[in-house]
Amino acid sequence: MNVHVNASRPYDVVIREGLLEACAPVISPYVQGRTAAVVTDDNVAPLYLQTLTGQLKACGCRVACYEIPNGEASKTLETYGRLLVWLSQQGLTRGDCVIALGGGVVGDLAGFAAATYLRGIAYVQVPTTLLAAVDSSVGGKTAVDLTTGKNLAGAFYPPALVLCDPLTLRTLPAQVFADGMAEVIKYGMICDAPLLALLERGMQGQQSAIIGRCVAIKRDIVSRDERETGERKLLNFGHTVAHAVEKCSNYTVSHGRAVGIGMAVLTRSWEKRGLCPPECTDALLRLLGQYGLDDTCRYDAAALCAAMGADKKRDGDSIDLIVPTGLGKTAICRTPVAQLPGIVAAGLA
Ligand SMILES: NC(=O)c1ccc[n+]([C@@H]2O[C@H](COP(=O)([O-])OP(=O)(O)OC[C@H]3O[C@@H](n4cnc5c(N)ncnc54)[C@H](O)[C@@H]3O)[C@@H](O)[C@H]2O)c1
Repeated sequence: MNVHVNASRPYDVVIREGLLEACAPVISPYVQGRTAAVVTDDNVAPLYLQTLTGQLKACGCRVACYEIPNGEASKTLETYGRLLVWLSQQGLTRGDCVIALGGGVVGDLAGFAAATYLRGIAYVQVPTTLLAAVDSSVGGKTAVDLTTGKNLAGAFYPPALVLCDPLTLRTLPAQVFADGMAEVIKYGMICDAPLLALLERGMQGQQSAIIGRCVAIKRDIVSRDERETGERKLLNFGHTVAHAVEKCSNYTVSHGRAVGIGMAVLTRSWEKRGLCPPECTDALLRLLGQYGLDDTCRYDAAALCAAMGADKKRDGDSIDLIVPTGLGKTAICRTPVAQLPGIVAAGLA
């Protein structure tokens, strides 16, 4: 399946089982006769690096590989700086290409390095987690974390190509697969009631189709609002609370799990205010449970709101929160920051 994304620089997302071991013809136009700098992590490298480098070499390109320790702790300015220096030591020029092989951490970091190295060189995303496949590899958001908060330094910088092989998801630990399910459920909640119904019936045999559907939803939203001035904010459903949960936990709670909690907290709270129908809350909580995700956290409203201080989605004294207004329907609600503690407290209960 091919999903074409009409961004400021258009690109294709190719989703196909077995693609990784047969990707040479697809990736060749981006790397032939050039240097391909593959960035990956120490979990993914032993599983898939050799297969990818074999395909790249078959394209007639020079391959250089950079491995980072896995996990969010690598998405820092320090790792980013070391990666930039390594790219320059490898002699990469503007015509060369960075390839991100891994989950959202590798994709965000390598994407930001590609966005800024020599003021921008091409990069290809090869997502190997469900979260990266349905979300972070598409849309062109790249970033690293600062000590003051998540994703605070970054750039909007679309990839040249996304290669998604759903077979790579087979080696994911259940917990990491569940992280991606939080984003899949998010797509259903924001705009796709039939997807929610499909998820309730189970994912068996539907994985590639579901990934394609999520990517198409993101493509549609991003192509109408690439730089998140309006509709793209819907994709942040649950993320303001999620980032606070991640920060409170010192990043021991993963992003996807935190997104599940964030959606549940907000949805319960909006229902109490009469803004969200109970069937939305019920469907969300059922799906989170079905796919092994939490709907509560051990932090109180004061701690979470303190952690939200540096949220980049904040605009002066207001923040845009997302309200489910029906199954598969959401609206953006501009909310005074002063109301956040009450909203969060109501959703935790
Ligand atoms: N740019 C965006 O639009 C966007 C959107 C959502 C999330 N994100 C970011 O994505 C990051 C989270 O991404 P993630 O959940 O993919 O985490 P991750 O990249 O840390 O991957 C999770 C774990 O799975 C391992 N792994 C990856 N692929 C594997 C495979 N096929 N088999 C076995 N193990 C594998 C990794 O080594 C890691 O330990 C966060 O930093 C978040 O901020 C970015």
